[in-house]
Amino acid sequence: MFEVREKPELVERALLVRLFFDPREEEESGALLEELGELVSTLHIGVVEKVLVRCREMHRKFLCGTGKAAELVELAKAHECDCIVFDNQLAPSQQREWERAANMSVIDREEVILDIFARRAQTKEARLQVELARMQYALPRMARMWRHLDREGGSGGSAGGGAAARGMGEKQIEVDRRMAHVRIDRARRELEDVVKQRATQRKEREKMETPHGAIVGYTNSGKSTLLNKLSGADVFAKDMLFATLDTTTRKIELPDGQPLLITDTVGFVRNLPHRLVEAFKATLEEAVLADFLIHVLDATSLEIERFHETTLKVLGELGAVDKRTITVLNKTDLITDPERFAELRQLYPDALLISAVSGLGLEALLQKCSEVMADRVRRWRYRIPQSRADLIGMLHRDAKVLSTEYEENDILVTAVVPAAIAGRLEEFAVV
Ligand code: GTP
Repeated sequence: MFEVREKPELVERALLVRLFFDPREEEESGALLEELGELVSTLHIGVVEKVLVRCREMHRKFLCGTGKAAELVELAKAHECDCIVFDNQLAPSQQREWERAANMSVIDREEVILDIFARRAQTKEARLQVELARMQYALPRMARMWRHLDREGGSGGSAGGGAAARGMGEKQIEVDRRMAHVRIDRARRELEDVVKQRATQRKEREKMETPHGAIVGYTNSGKSTLLNKLSGADVFAKDMLFATLDTTTRKIELPDGQPLLITDTVGFVRNLPHRLVEAFKATLEEAVLADFLIHVLDATSLEIERFHETTLKVLGELGAVDKRTITVLNKTDLITDPERFAELRQLYPDALLISAVSGLGLEALLQKCSEVMADRVRRWRYRIPQSRADLIGMLHRDAKVLSTEYEENDILVTAVVPAAIAGRLEEFAVV
């Protein structure tokens, strides 16, 4: 059976490694290695040591040179690790070479992120998306999984037994590959169905023409907390990476009375595996199709600029980089140093300072949302004959009616009206 193995069940102690080749990459590599530590801890794997290694050139076999590879294997063994995790992307053949040399499981950042996503996925759509990405990742690495079987067979004693087991392993890989393709196709088809359903739901929403904002940002920046606070809803918010994988949409009311839909999206991270961005496109499309974005930045993070750039980069890949965006600096309740405040203000002069936990700055944020939406939704006053119950019905259904007055045979209505239906009511507008 083609199974994507679950690392957390297999490994407990990991050595983390980041190789870098250009001295200018040292600082960023160090930060990435720290972040890898957080990602790995999320999987409840103990991190015994993190090593940053400068290499002169890239080698085909291990990515670093053979001498350095041997040193790292020794270090992992000295720590009694059962796993080496690379922040660098390893080709399937390199991963195999490392596992052969170290005789323990060797994984890379992509696999770690895929595992976290697999654990967090809740809805059918998210599960299918992750399953697809994981199977695609596992496909070229199947030979590696079956090498374990070969080794067990080979250790039985006779060389002949080993060869037979190897043959078995190879046959098994073929069977598995076919199975994997069948499963990948099936997951893809199922996903297409779910995507269609989502498109139908979206059309329904568009018909309602309620303006729609999407909250985007780096993982752990406070997106879910913000949505909770704004909507009084109970979205899963936790101090862990990728707490939310499924988009949640809530309806809130802006200070001027107009309704607004807000969607919480999956958090971004540096070096987010491309196939995950691909797999999650349907979910992330919510961000692309929203009328505007609320980009949440964690003001306490020393890497705020990099997180900002990463989010913009992923949005770029999704084709959503030109969207109108309200940038917010979140968690400002934790900042006490006035100098840091000044720095942040200088870095992001247009950003709003908020705290999703204390509620600070949220009124200004809602006000800003109203402003951003101002050209899309307007407040109108109409004189509509009472005989036009259809228009009155439409106003109550698709707009926000603020007041109604009866005057002879007409109804005077003041309402916040979305652009899509404004045209049909134009002839009844009173200036
Ligand atoms: P992902 O699901 O990983 O993308 O995370 P997220 O961006 O949705 O972050 P989430 O809302 O889960 O918040 C992450 C952590 O930051 C939680 O522990 C929150 O309580 C905390 N947090 C969020 N906003 C604030 C804030 O304004 N102030 C403080 N002090 N903590 C905050």
